[in-house]
Order: sequence, then structure tokens, then C-alpha cells
Amino acid sequence: MNIVSQIISSYSNNKSLYLGEKVTITEHMIQTAMLAEINNCSSDLVCSSLLHDYGHFILDNPDNLVVNKKDGRHEDIGYNFLKKHFIKNVVEPIKYHVKAKKYLARDNKYYQGLSDASKVSLKLQGGIFNDKDAKEFEKNEFFNNSIKLRKFDDNAKKVGLKIKSINEYRSLLISKLI
Ligand SMILES: [Fe+2]
Repeated sequence: MNIVSQIISSYSNNKSLYLGEKVTITEHMIQTAMLAEINNCSSDLVCSSLLHDYGHFILDNPDNLVVNKKDGRHEDIGYNFLKKHFIKNVVEPIKYHVKAKKYLARDNKYYQGLSDASKVSLKLQGGIFNDKDAKEFEKNEFFNNSIKLRKFDDNAKKVGLKIKSINEYRSLLISKLI
């Protein structure tokens, strides 16, 4: 099976809920991609948004992470797999989407708006950035897109929202292969 078909079948077969939320990982990632589209983002960022939590499909049982107080480092697992197949502009914001949360959480209003599960995972991911880490992150070439991805991510947990089928993204995925 080629890589795009393999990815599409992971989305089609996924039934597990996204870490303490009420939507599946598939629903969550498709909602994230749809937010990028609604906000007129580049096709690269739509593709990043669609794939950003792919690491959760690779991890054995993502549902146990919060329960066991472990951080599965899904962003690295997803990134390391996806970078073998997709262009840099797509995969780099995926690598940084957790750092973007650590950055944004410096703003208390942002922090308070996070879901309970997301607050727990923030702690497991090392907590809020200090000033030095924040400054360093701002210099990153993919800073802006990582922040945008993060904001779509945080808002992509709506129960019962009508979403696109993963098959509608097949040509986008193919167009971003290395
Ligand atoms: Fe996410």
C-alpha cells in the first residue's frame, strides 16, 4: 500500500477518542485542517493541520497517556515518521505545535481557555515557556505557522460538527509528498 493510502486508512479506522476529549483523533485532525482552510491558510499549512497529531496513531494507546501521567511525545513520533514522506513546510510546524502551546500559555487568557486535558498534557510536556525559551522560539523559521496550527488545534474539538471525509484530502496529501 502506498503511503497516502496507508495514512487514509489510519484515519478511516480510528475510533479512539482524542486524549480526554469527546471527538476522535480523526475528527480532531480533520476539524483542524478545516479551520486552516476557513482561515485561508496555505495548502502547506492545511496539510500540516491535517497531519499534526498523526503521532497518536503511531503510539500504541494514546488514551493511557494522561491517565498514566506520561508524555508520549507524539509530536516527535509523528514528525519523525512524516518527514520521510512529506515536504519540510508541512512537517516542521507539526514538530513545533507543542512548543507553540508552551509559548502561548504564557498568556493567562490563552491558558484558561485550554481544555482540562490540554492543561494536563501541558504539564507533562514541561509546562509554560520561560522568557528565554519564548524569545528563542520566536526566531524559529516556522514560528508563525506553528502558532497558527496550535490555535486551530485548540479549537478543533467540537462534538457533532459536520466534517469532510479524509478521502477529500487525498490529492492534497499526494501533492505534498517529497
Ligand atoms: Fe491536536
